[in-house]
Amino acid sequence: MEIAFHGKRALVTGASQGIGREIVKQLVKCGAKVVAVSRNKNLLESLKAEVPSVEIIVVDLSNWAETEKALKNVGPVDLLVNNAGLAILEPIGQIPQESVDRIFDINVKAVINVTQIVAKGLIARKAPGAIVNISSQASKVGLQDHAAYCASKGAVDAFTRVAALELGPHNIRVNTVNPTVILTDMGKLGWSDAAKAGPMLEKIPLKRFGEVHEVVDAILYLLSDKASLVNGVSLLTDGGYVAVSSKMNISFVGKQALVTGAASGIGKEITQRLVQCNAKVIAVDINPELLNSLKREIPTVTPLALDLSKWENVNNLNLLELGHVDLLVNCAGVCFEEKITEITERNVDRQFDVNTKLIINLTRKVASDLISRNVPGSIVNISSQASMAGIVLQSVYCATKGAVDAFTRAAALELGPYGIRVNSVNPTIIMTEMGRRAWSDPVKSAPMLAKIPLGRFGKVEEVADAVIYLLSDRASLINGACLPVDGGFLAN
Ligand SMILES: NC(=O)c1ccc[n+]([C@@H]2O[C@H](COP(=O)([O-])OP(=O)(O)OC[C@H]3O[C@@H](n4cnc5c(N)ncnc54)[C@H](O)[C@@H]3O)[C@@H](O)[C@H]2O)c1
Repeated sequence: MEIAFHGKRALVTGASQGIGREIVKQLVKCGAKVVAVSRNKNLLESLKAEVPSVEIIVVDLSNWAETEKALKNVGPVDLLVNNAGLAILEPIGQIPQESVDRIFDINVKAVINVTQIVAKGLIARKAPGAIVNISSQASKVGLQDHAAYCASKGAVDAFTRVAALELGPHNIRVNTVNPTVILTDMGKLGWSDAAKAGPMLEKIPLKRFGEVHEVVDAILYLLSDKASLVNGVSLLTDGGYVAVSSKMNISFVGKQALVTGAASGIGKEITQRLVQCNAKVIAVDINPELLNSLKREIPTVTPLALDLSKWENVNNLNLLELGHVDLLVNCAGVCFEEKITEITERNVDRQFDVNTKLIINLTRKVASDLISRNVPGSIVNISSQASMAGIVLQSVYCATKGAVDAFTRAAALELGPYGIRVNSVNPTIIMTEMGRRAWSDPVKSAPMLAKIPLGRFGKVEEVADAVIYLLSDRASLINGACLPVDGGFLAN
Protein backbone atom coordinates (compact mmCIF):
# COMPACT_ATOMS: atom_id res chain seq x y z
CA MET A 1 0.00 0.00 0.00
CA GLU A 2 1.59 3.23 -1.16
CA ILE A 3 1.05 6.00 1.41
CA ALA A 4 2.22 9.53 0.65
CA PHE A 5 1.96 12.72 2.67
CA HIS A 6 3.58 15.17 0.25
CA GLY A 7 2.52 18.74 1.00
CA LYS A 8 1.28 17.78 4.49
CA ARG A 9 2.62 18.96 7.80
CA ALA A 10 2.41 16.59 10.77
CA LEU A 11 2.83 17.17 14.50
CA VAL A 12 3.94 14.24 16.66
CA THR A 13 4.05 14.39 20.47
CA GLY A 14 6.38 12.23 22.54
CA ALA A 15 8.53 12.21 19.42
CA SER A 16 11.99 11.83 20.92
CA GLN A 17 11.99 8.07 21.56
CA GLY A 18 10.17 4.75 21.15
CA ILE A 19 7.10 4.61 18.95
CA GLY A 20 6.97 8.42 18.53
CA ARG A 21 10.50 8.65 17.12
CA GLU A 22 9.73 5.93 14.58
CA ILE A 23 6.47 7.66 13.58
CA VAL A 24 8.44 10.82 12.82
CA LYS A 25 10.94 8.96 10.64
CA GLN A 26 8.25 7.13 8.69
CA LEU A 27 6.18 10.30 8.17
CA VAL A 28 9.25 12.01 6.77
CA LYS A 29 9.89 9.00 4.51
CA CYS A 30 6.33 9.36 3.22
CA GLY A 31 7.00 12.99 2.29
CA ALA A 32 5.50 14.86 5.27
CA LYS A 33 7.07 17.83 6.98
CA VAL A 34 7.19 16.96 10.69
CA VAL A 35 7.10 18.98 13.88
CA ALA A 36 8.47 16.78 16.68
CA VAL A 37 7.35 17.71 20.19
CA SER A 38 8.88 16.38 23.39
CA ARG A 39 10.20 17.62 26.71
CA ASN A 40 13.58 15.93 26.21
CA LYS A 41 15.80 18.48 24.46
CA ASN A 42 18.82 16.20 24.02
CA LEU A 43 16.87 13.38 22.44
CA LEU A 44 15.00 15.82 20.18
CA GLU A 45 18.32 17.27 19.05
CA SER A 46 19.63 13.80 18.31
CA LEU A 47 16.47 13.17 16.24
CA LYS A 48 17.09 16.41 14.37
CA ALA A 49 20.69 15.33 13.73
CA GLU A 50 19.36 12.04 12.32
CA VAL A 51 16.52 13.62 10.30
CA PRO A 52 17.50 17.24 9.59
CA SER A 53 14.17 18.28 8.00
CA VAL A 54 12.37 17.79 11.31
CA GLU A 55 11.37 20.91 13.29
CA ILE A 56 11.60 20.42 17.04
CA ILE A 57 9.65 21.98 19.91
CA VAL A 58 10.70 21.36 23.49
CA VAL A 59 7.81 21.55 25.95
CA ASP A 60 6.44 19.61 28.89
CA LEU A 61 3.00 18.65 27.56
CA SER A 62 1.72 17.98 31.06
CA ASN A 63 1.74 21.75 31.54
CA TRP A 64 -1.43 23.01 29.79
CA ALA A 65 -0.49 26.70 29.67
CA GLU A 66 3.13 26.08 28.61
CA THR A 67 1.88 23.80 25.82
CA GLU A 68 -0.53 26.46 24.55
CA LYS A 69 2.34 28.95 24.57
CA ALA A 70 4.79 26.62 22.82
CA LEU A 71 2.34 25.68 20.07
CA LYS A 72 0.83 29.15 19.59
CA ASN A 73 2.86 29.81 16.46
CA VAL A 74 3.25 26.24 15.31
CA GLY A 75 1.81 27.08 11.89
CA PRO A 76 -0.45 24.89 9.75
CA VAL A 77 -0.75 21.29 10.91
CA ASP A 78 -2.69 18.73 8.82
CA LEU A 79 -1.88 15.55 10.68
CA LEU A 80 -1.58 15.07 14.43
CA VAL A 81 -0.32 12.06 16.37
CA ASN A 82 -0.91 12.34 20.12
CA ASN A 83 1.66 9.80 21.14
CA ALA A 84 3.16 11.10 24.41
CA GLY A 85 2.17 8.90 27.33
CA LEU A 86 3.18 7.67 30.74
CA ALA A 87 2.62 4.45 32.71
CA ILE A 88 3.01 4.17 36.47
CA LEU A 89 2.20 0.76 37.91
CA GLU A 90 0.70 0.61 41.39
CA PRO A 91 -1.86 -1.70 43.00
CA ILE A 92 -5.21 -0.24 44.02
CA GLY A 93 -4.88 0.91 47.61
CA GLN A 94 -1.40 2.31 46.99
CA ILE A 95 -2.07 4.85 44.24
CA PRO A 96 -1.15 8.37 45.38
CA GLN A 97 -2.87 11.44 43.95
CA GLU A 98 0.42 12.47 42.36
CA SER A 99 0.47 9.36 40.13
CA VAL A 100 -3.11 9.93 38.98
CA ASP A 101 -2.34 13.58 38.20
CA ARG A 102 0.87 12.77 36.32
CA ILE A 103 -0.81 10.05 34.26
CA PHE A 104 -3.94 12.06 33.45
CA ASP A 105 -1.99 15.27 32.73
CA ILE A 106 -0.03 13.63 29.95
CA ASN A 107 -2.25 10.76 28.75
CA VAL A 108 -5.55 12.64 28.72
CA LYS A 109 -5.29 16.40 29.26
CA ALA A 110 -2.40 16.85 26.81
CA VAL A 111 -4.37 14.92 24.16
CA ILE A 112 -7.37 17.21 24.65
CA ASN A 113 -5.21 20.34 24.70
CA VAL A 114 -3.13 19.60 21.59
CA THR A 115 -6.17 18.28 19.68
CA GLN A 116 -7.98 21.56 20.34
CA ILE A 117 -5.01 23.64 19.22
CA VAL A 118 -4.61 21.68 15.97
CA ALA A 119 -8.36 21.39 15.29
CA LYS A 120 -8.86 25.14 15.71
CA GLY A 121 -6.10 25.77 13.15
CA LEU A 122 -7.61 23.28 10.69
CA ILE A 123 -11.11 24.71 11.05
CA ALA A 124 -9.82 28.28 10.59
CA ARG A 125 -8.02 27.21 7.39
CA LYS A 126 -11.02 25.08 6.28
CA ALA A 127 -8.49 22.33 5.68
CA PRO A 128 -9.13 18.58 6.08
CA GLY A 129 -7.16 16.80 8.78
CA ALA A 130 -6.49 13.51 10.48
CA ILE A 131 -5.70 12.92 14.13
CA VAL A 132 -4.53 9.67 15.67
CA ASN A 133 -4.37 9.23 19.44
CA ILE A 134 -2.20 6.42 20.76
CA SER A 135 -4.36 4.57 23.24
CA SER A 136 -3.76 1.00 24.41
CA GLN A 137 -5.39 -2.39 24.81
CA ALA A 138 -5.55 -1.20 28.43
CA SER A 139 -8.55 0.95 27.47
CA LYS A 140 -10.55 -2.22 26.82
CA VAL A 141 -9.44 -4.70 29.47
CA GLY A 142 -8.24 -4.57 33.08
CA LEU A 143 -4.51 -5.09 33.59
CA GLN A 144 -3.09 -5.83 37.04
CA ASP A 145 -1.56 -2.76 38.74
CA HIS A 146 -2.52 -0.55 35.75
CA ALA A 147 -5.67 1.02 37.27
CA ALA A 148 -4.87 4.69 36.62
CA TYR A 149 -3.23 3.91 33.27
CA CYS A 150 -6.24 1.84 32.11
CA ALA A 151 -8.60 4.62 33.23
CA SER A 152 -6.58 7.23 31.32
CA LYS A 153 -6.63 5.18 28.11
CA GLY A 154 -10.37 4.57 28.49
CA ALA A 155 -10.68 8.36 28.65
CA VAL A 156 -8.62 8.71 25.45
CA ASP A 157 -10.99 6.36 23.57
CA ALA A 158 -14.04 8.20 24.88
CA PHE A 159 -12.58 11.61 24.01
CA THR A 160 -11.70 10.32 20.53
CA ARG A 161 -15.29 9.29 19.83
CA VAL A 162 -16.61 12.73 20.81
CA ALA A 163 -13.87 14.47 18.81
CA ALA A 164 -14.79 12.32 15.79
CA LEU A 165 -18.40 13.41 16.20
CA GLU A 166 -17.69 17.12 16.61
CA LEU A 167 -14.82 17.46 14.14
CA GLY A 168 -16.19 15.11 11.44
CA PRO A 169 -18.35 17.85 9.88
CA HIS A 170 -15.10 19.85 9.40
CA ASN A 171 -13.59 16.90 7.53
CA ILE A 172 -11.23 16.14 10.39
CA ARG A 173 -11.06 12.44 11.22
CA VAL A 174 -10.08 11.33 14.73
CA ASN A 175 -9.16 7.72 15.60
CA THR A 176 -7.07 5.79 18.08
CA VAL A 177 -4.56 2.99 17.71
CA ASN A 178 -4.63 0.58 20.66
CA PRO A 179 -1.46 -1.51 20.82
CA THR A 180 -0.70 -4.50 22.97
CA VAL A 181 2.66 -4.53 24.78
CA ILE A 182 5.38 -3.09 22.52
CA LEU A 183 8.87 -3.53 23.92
CA THR A 184 9.89 0.14 23.89
CA ASP A 185 11.28 1.60 27.13
CA MET A 186 7.72 1.90 28.47
CA GLY A 187 6.91 -1.66 27.45
CA LYS A 188 10.06 -2.96 29.11
CA LEU A 189 9.10 -1.22 32.35
CA GLY A 190 5.94 -3.28 32.72
CA TRP A 191 6.77 -6.49 30.90
CA SER A 192 10.45 -7.47 31.11
CA ASP A 193 9.79 -9.83 33.99
CA ALA A 194 9.20 -13.28 32.44
CA ALA A 195 6.87 -14.23 35.30
CA LYS A 196 4.59 -11.36 34.33
CA ALA A 197 5.09 -11.50 30.57
CA GLY A 198 4.37 -15.26 30.34
CA PRO A 199 0.67 -15.16 31.19
CA MET A 200 0.17 -12.05 29.01
CA LEU A 201 1.86 -13.73 26.03
CA GLU A 202 -0.29 -16.77 26.70
CA LYS A 203 -3.35 -14.57 26.22
CA ILE A 204 -2.24 -13.10 22.89
CA PRO A 205 -3.39 -15.45 20.12
CA LEU A 206 -0.34 -14.54 17.99
CA LYS A 207 1.86 -15.49 21.01
CA ARG A 208 4.15 -12.46 20.78
CA PHE A 209 4.34 -8.81 21.76
CA GLY A 210 4.15 -6.14 19.08
CA GLU A 211 6.92 -4.53 17.06
CA VAL A 212 7.18 -0.75 16.83
CA HIS A 213 6.74 -0.80 13.04
CA GLU A 214 3.43 -2.66 13.39
CA VAL A 215 1.96 0.19 15.44
CA VAL A 216 3.46 2.81 13.13
CA ASP A 217 1.94 1.10 10.06
CA ALA A 218 -1.53 1.33 11.64
CA ILE A 219 -0.99 5.02 12.48
CA LEU A 220 0.18 5.87 8.95
CA TYR A 221 -2.87 4.11 7.51
CA LEU A 222 -5.29 6.06 9.73
CA LEU A 223 -3.55 9.36 8.94
CA SER A 224 -3.73 8.66 5.22
CA ASP A 225 -6.54 9.05 2.69
CA LYS A 226 -6.67 5.25 2.48
CA ALA A 227 -8.70 5.54 5.70
CA SER A 228 -10.90 8.37 4.39
CA LEU A 229 -14.11 6.87 5.80
CA VAL A 230 -12.61 5.67 9.09
CA ASN A 231 -13.57 8.01 11.92
CA GLY A 232 -14.08 7.53 15.67
CA VAL A 233 -12.54 4.08 15.58
CA SER A 234 -10.25 2.41 18.13
CA LEU A 235 -8.03 0.17 16.06
CA LEU A 236 -6.55 -2.67 18.07
CA THR A 237 -3.02 -3.71 17.13
CA ASP A 238 -2.90 -6.42 19.76
CA GLY A 239 -2.47 -9.80 18.08
CA GLY A 240 -6.06 -10.64 19.04
CA TYR A 241 -5.60 -10.15 22.80
CA VAL A 242 -8.77 -8.18 23.46
CA ALA A 243 -10.94 -10.36 21.23
CA VAL A 244 -10.03 -13.33 23.39
CA SER A 245 -9.82 -11.86 26.86
CA SER A 246 -13.01 -9.88 26.62
CA LYS A 247 -14.86 -12.97 25.41
CA MET A 248 -17.07 -12.70 28.47
CA ASN A 249 -15.50 -9.55 29.84
CA ILE A 250 -14.98 -11.25 33.16
CA SER A 251 -12.27 -10.10 35.53
CA PHE A 252 -11.28 -11.61 38.86
CA VAL A 253 -8.80 -8.86 39.78
CA GLY A 254 -8.04 -9.02 43.50
CA LYS A 255 -9.51 -12.52 43.88
CA GLN A 256 -7.71 -15.74 44.68
CA ALA A 257 -8.96 -19.08 43.37
CA LEU A 258 -8.11 -22.61 44.48
CA VAL A 259 -8.41 -25.28 41.79
CA THR A 260 -8.05 -28.99 42.59
CA GLY A 261 -6.89 -31.37 39.87
CA ALA A 262 -5.31 -28.28 38.34
CA ALA A 263 -2.39 -29.96 36.61
CA SER A 264 -4.24 -31.81 33.87
CA GLY A 265 -7.24 -31.79 31.55
CA ILE A 266 -10.22 -29.69 32.57
CA GLY A 267 -8.57 -28.34 35.75
CA LYS A 268 -5.57 -27.09 33.80
CA GLU A 269 -7.77 -25.25 31.31
CA ILE A 270 -9.76 -23.68 34.16
CA THR A 271 -6.50 -22.59 35.82
CA GLN A 272 -5.30 -20.97 32.60
CA ARG A 273 -8.58 -19.15 32.13
CA LEU A 274 -8.65 -17.89 35.72
CA VAL A 275 -5.15 -16.46 35.29
CA GLN A 276 -6.22 -14.83 32.03
CA CYS A 277 -9.10 -13.25 33.96
CA ASN A 278 -6.55 -11.82 36.41
CA ALA A 279 -7.23 -14.15 39.36
CA LYS A 280 -4.41 -15.45 41.52
CA VAL A 281 -4.55 -19.23 41.47
CA ILE A 282 -3.50 -21.89 43.97
CA ALA A 283 -3.15 -24.97 41.77
CA VAL A 284 -3.49 -28.21 43.74
CA ASP A 285 -2.78 -31.63 42.31
CA ILE A 286 -1.57 -34.99 43.53
CA ASN A 287 0.88 -35.24 40.63
CA PRO A 288 4.06 -33.17 41.30
CA GLU A 289 5.56 -33.67 37.80
CA LEU A 290 2.44 -32.36 36.08
CA LEU A 291 2.32 -29.48 38.58
CA ASN A 292 5.95 -28.57 37.78
CA SER A 293 5.19 -28.38 34.09
CA LEU A 294 2.08 -26.28 34.85
CA LYS A 295 4.26 -23.88 36.86
CA ARG A 296 6.69 -23.62 33.93
CA GLU A 297 3.80 -22.80 31.58
CA ILE A 298 2.05 -20.39 33.96
CA PRO A 299 4.71 -19.00 36.33
CA THR A 300 2.22 -16.96 38.35
CA VAL A 301 0.33 -19.93 39.82
CA THR A 302 1.03 -21.16 43.33
CA PRO A 303 1.51 -24.92 42.97
CA LEU A 304 0.62 -27.28 45.80
CA ALA A 305 1.37 -30.99 45.42
CA LEU A 306 -1.06 -32.69 47.79
CA ASP A 307 -3.38 -35.66 47.96
CA LEU A 308 -6.47 -33.79 49.04
CA SER A 309 -8.50 -36.97 49.32
CA LYS A 310 -6.80 -37.36 52.71
CA TRP A 311 -9.05 -35.55 55.19
CA GLU A 312 -6.14 -34.32 57.31
CA ASN A 313 -4.40 -32.75 54.28
CA VAL A 314 -7.37 -30.45 53.81
CA ASN A 315 -7.46 -29.74 57.55
CA ASN A 316 -3.79 -28.78 57.46
CA LEU A 317 -4.15 -26.28 54.59
CA ASN A 318 -3.07 -22.95 55.99
CA LEU A 319 -5.23 -20.32 54.30
CA LEU A 320 -3.44 -17.55 56.18
CA GLU A 321 -0.13 -18.56 54.61
CA LEU A 322 -1.55 -19.40 51.19
CA GLY A 323 -3.74 -16.34 51.09
CA HIS A 324 -7.52 -16.48 51.46
CA VAL A 325 -9.62 -18.22 48.83
CA ASP A 326 -12.57 -16.42 47.21
CA LEU A 327 -13.24 -18.86 44.38
CA LEU A 328 -13.08 -22.65 44.69
CA VAL A 329 -13.14 -25.11 41.81
CA ASN A 330 -13.39 -28.72 42.92
CA CYS A 331 -12.16 -30.45 39.81
CA ALA A 332 -9.94 -33.36 40.96
CA GLY A 333 -11.54 -36.62 40.01
CA VAL A 334 -10.88 -40.27 39.24
CA CYS A 335 -12.86 -42.91 37.40
CA PHE A 336 -12.27 -46.67 37.57
CA GLU A 337 -14.45 -48.81 35.33
CA GLU A 338 -15.72 -52.09 36.79
CA LYS A 339 -18.64 -54.45 36.33
CA ILE A 340 -21.11 -54.21 39.23
CA THR A 341 -20.40 -57.83 40.10
CA GLU A 342 -16.70 -57.07 40.47
CA ILE A 343 -16.70 -53.86 42.46
CA THR A 344 -14.03 -53.76 45.17
CA GLU A 345 -14.20 -51.80 48.41
CA ARG A 346 -10.84 -50.22 47.55
CA ASN A 347 -12.17 -48.71 44.32
CA VAL A 348 -15.35 -47.52 45.98
CA ASP A 349 -13.27 -45.76 48.63
CA ARG A 350 -10.78 -44.31 46.13
CA GLN A 351 -13.52 -42.82 43.96
CA PHE A 352 -15.64 -41.50 46.83
CA ASP A 353 -12.54 -40.12 48.60
CA VAL A 354 -11.52 -37.97 45.61
CA ASN A 355 -14.78 -37.29 43.78
CA THR A 356 -17.05 -36.68 46.79
CA LYS A 357 -15.42 -36.50 50.22
CA LEU A 358 -12.71 -34.12 49.00
CA ILE A 359 -15.38 -31.72 47.72
CA ILE A 360 -17.30 -31.87 50.99
CA ASN A 361 -14.18 -31.34 53.07
CA LEU A 362 -12.65 -28.53 51.01
CA THR A 363 -16.00 -26.74 50.72
CA ARG A 364 -16.24 -26.91 54.52
CA LYS A 365 -12.75 -25.48 54.89
CA VAL A 366 -13.10 -22.64 52.38
CA ALA A 367 -16.67 -21.75 53.39
CA SER A 368 -15.66 -21.49 57.08
CA ASP A 369 -12.91 -19.05 56.12
CA LEU A 370 -15.23 -16.99 53.87
CA ILE A 371 -17.86 -16.80 56.60
CA SER A 372 -15.33 -15.80 59.26
CA ARG A 373 -14.05 -13.04 56.99
CA ASN A 374 -17.62 -12.04 56.07
CA VAL A 375 -16.86 -11.99 52.34
CA PRO A 376 -18.81 -13.50 49.42
CA GLY A 377 -17.52 -16.47 47.46
CA SER A 378 -18.30 -18.77 44.60
CA ILE A 379 -17.75 -22.52 44.45
CA VAL A 380 -18.04 -24.71 41.37
CA ASN A 381 -17.92 -28.49 41.61
CA ILE A 382 -17.05 -30.47 38.52
CA SER A 383 -19.67 -33.16 38.45
CA SER A 384 -20.60 -35.10 35.30
CA GLN A 385 -23.48 -36.14 33.06
CA ALA A 386 -22.93 -39.42 34.91
CA SER A 387 -24.66 -37.91 37.95
CA MET A 388 -27.98 -37.91 36.10
CA ALA A 389 -27.68 -40.76 33.58
CA GLY A 390 -26.49 -44.30 34.15
CA ILE A 391 -23.30 -45.28 32.36
CA VAL A 392 -22.33 -48.92 31.93
CA LEU A 393 -19.22 -49.95 33.93
CA GLN A 394 -19.27 -46.61 35.78
CA SER A 395 -21.82 -47.33 38.52
CA VAL A 396 -19.59 -46.21 41.36
CA TYR A 397 -18.37 -43.14 39.44
CA CYS A 398 -22.04 -42.28 38.71
CA ALA A 399 -22.83 -42.62 42.42
CA THR A 400 -19.93 -40.33 43.41
CA LYS A 401 -21.17 -37.65 40.98
CA GLY A 402 -24.82 -38.05 42.06
CA ALA A 403 -23.60 -37.34 45.58
CA VAL A 404 -21.75 -34.23 44.31
CA ASP A 405 -24.96 -32.80 42.82
CA ALA A 406 -26.91 -33.52 46.00
CA PHE A 407 -24.19 -31.93 48.15
CA THR A 408 -24.06 -28.92 45.79
CA ARG A 409 -27.78 -28.25 46.30
CA ALA A 410 -27.58 -28.58 50.09
CA ALA A 411 -24.44 -26.42 50.27
CA ALA A 412 -26.14 -23.75 48.11
CA LEU A 413 -29.00 -23.69 50.57
CA GLU A 414 -26.84 -23.40 53.67
CA LEU A 415 -24.16 -21.07 52.31
CA GLY A 416 -26.41 -18.80 50.24
CA PRO A 417 -27.31 -16.60 53.24
CA TYR A 418 -23.57 -15.83 53.58
CA GLY A 419 -23.28 -14.71 49.93
CA ILE A 420 -21.51 -17.91 48.93
CA ARG A 421 -22.89 -19.49 45.75
CA VAL A 422 -22.38 -23.20 45.05
CA ASN A 423 -23.04 -24.76 41.65
CA SER A 424 -21.90 -27.74 39.64
CA VAL A 425 -20.93 -28.15 36.02
CA ASN A 426 -21.85 -31.51 34.50
CA PRO A 427 -19.82 -32.24 31.38
CA THR A 428 -20.30 -34.95 28.82
CA ILE A 429 -17.19 -36.83 27.70
CA ILE A 430 -14.14 -34.65 27.27
CA MET A 431 -11.05 -36.21 25.72
CA THR A 432 -8.65 -35.54 28.59
CA GLU A 433 -6.51 -38.29 30.14
CA MET A 434 -9.62 -39.51 31.93
CA GLY A 435 -11.81 -39.25 28.84
CA ARG A 436 -9.29 -41.04 26.63
CA ARG A 437 -8.90 -43.88 29.10
CA ALA A 438 -12.61 -44.69 29.03
CA TRP A 439 -13.74 -43.61 25.57
CA SER A 440 -10.94 -44.05 23.02
CA ASP A 441 -12.39 -47.28 21.65
CA PRO A 442 -14.76 -46.29 18.79
CA VAL A 443 -16.89 -49.38 19.42
CA LYS A 444 -17.66 -47.95 22.85
CA SER A 445 -17.80 -44.27 21.94
CA ALA A 446 -20.03 -44.54 18.83
CA PRO A 447 -23.28 -45.37 20.72
CA MET A 448 -22.51 -42.59 23.22
CA LEU A 449 -21.89 -40.09 20.42
CA ALA A 450 -25.17 -41.16 18.84
CA LYS A 451 -26.98 -40.07 22.01
CA ILE A 452 -25.47 -36.55 21.97
CA PRO A 453 -27.66 -34.27 19.80
CA LEU A 454 -24.65 -32.15 18.80
CA GLY A 455 -22.93 -35.35 17.64
CA ARG A 456 -19.60 -34.74 19.32
CA PHE A 457 -17.80 -34.89 22.64
CA GLY A 458 -16.89 -31.65 24.43
CA LYS A 459 -13.72 -29.58 24.65
CA VAL A 460 -11.96 -28.51 27.84
CA GLU A 461 -12.51 -24.87 26.77
CA GLU A 462 -16.27 -25.41 26.72
CA VAL A 463 -16.27 -26.72 30.29
CA ALA A 464 -13.97 -23.89 31.43
CA ASP A 465 -16.29 -21.29 29.87
CA ALA A 466 -19.18 -22.58 31.98
CA VAL A 467 -17.04 -22.67 35.13
CA ILE A 468 -15.68 -19.14 34.66
CA TYR A 469 -19.21 -17.88 34.10
CA LEU A 470 -20.55 -19.54 37.26
CA LEU A 471 -17.61 -18.25 39.32
CA SER A 472 -18.20 -14.71 38.12
CA ASP A 473 -20.69 -12.05 39.12
CA ARG A 474 -22.37 -12.59 35.74
CA ALA A 475 -23.98 -15.57 37.47
CA SER A 476 -24.83 -13.63 40.62
CA LEU A 477 -28.31 -15.14 40.99
CA ILE A 478 -27.34 -18.69 40.05
CA ASN A 479 -27.04 -20.90 43.10
CA GLY A 480 -27.56 -24.63 43.58
CA ALA A 481 -27.66 -25.29 39.82
CA CYS A 482 -26.22 -28.33 38.07
CA LEU A 483 -25.34 -27.08 34.60
CA PRO A 484 -25.01 -29.75 31.91
CA VAL A 485 -22.29 -28.99 29.36
CA ASP A 486 -23.18 -32.04 27.33
CA GLY A 487 -24.32 -31.17 23.81
CA GLY A 488 -27.86 -32.11 24.83
CA PHE A 489 -27.10 -35.66 26.07
CA LEU A 490 -29.20 -35.25 29.22
CA ALA A 491 -32.10 -33.72 27.30
CA ASN A 492 -32.52 -37.09 25.62
N1 LIG B 1 -12.98 -36.14 30.91
C1 LIG B 1 -14.28 -36.42 30.97
O1 LIG B 1 -14.85 -37.08 30.06
C2 LIG B 1 -15.12 -35.93 32.12
C3 LIG B 1 -16.51 -35.89 31.96
C4 LIG B 1 -17.29 -35.45 33.02
C5 LIG B 1 -16.72 -35.05 34.20
N2 LIG B 1 -15.35 -35.07 34.33
C6 LIG B 1 -14.79 -34.64 35.61
O2 LIG B 1 -13.88 -33.56 35.36
C7 LIG B 1 -12.90 -33.53 36.39
C8 LIG B 1 -11.50 -33.40 35.76
O3 LIG B 1 -11.25 -34.55 34.95
P1 LIG B 1 -10.27 -34.54 33.70
O4 LIG B 1 -11.02 -35.11 32.57
O5 LIG B 1 -9.64 -33.22 33.55
O6 LIG B 1 -9.25 -35.67 34.17
P2 LIG B 1 -7.65 -35.68 34.31
O7 LIG B 1 -7.33 -37.07 34.70
O8 LIG B 1 -7.01 -35.10 33.11
O9 LIG B 1 -7.39 -34.67 35.54
C9 LIG B 1 -7.71 -35.00 36.87
C10 LIG B 1 -6.67 -34.35 37.76
O10 LIG B 1 -7.05 -34.60 39.12
C11 LIG B 1 -5.85 -34.89 39.84
N3 LIG B 1 -6.16 -35.65 41.07
C12 LIG B 1 -6.65 -36.91 41.17
N4 LIG B 1 -6.73 -37.27 42.45
C13 LIG B 1 -6.31 -36.23 43.20
C14 LIG B 1 -6.18 -36.01 44.60
N5 LIG B 1 -6.46 -36.98 45.48
N6 LIG B 1 -5.74 -34.81 45.03
C15 LIG B 1 -5.42 -33.86 44.13
N7 LIG B 1 -5.52 -34.01 42.79
C16 LIG B 1 -5.96 -35.19 42.33
C17 LIG B 1 -5.03 -35.71 38.85
O11 LIG B 1 -3.66 -35.76 39.17
C18 LIG B 1 -5.28 -34.95 37.55
O12 LIG B 1 -4.33 -33.92 37.37
C19 LIG B 1 -13.10 -34.82 37.22
O13 LIG B 1 -13.83 -34.49 38.39
C20 LIG B 1 -13.96 -35.68 36.33
O14 LIG B 1 -14.73 -36.59 37.05
C21 LIG B 1 -14.55 -35.50 33.31
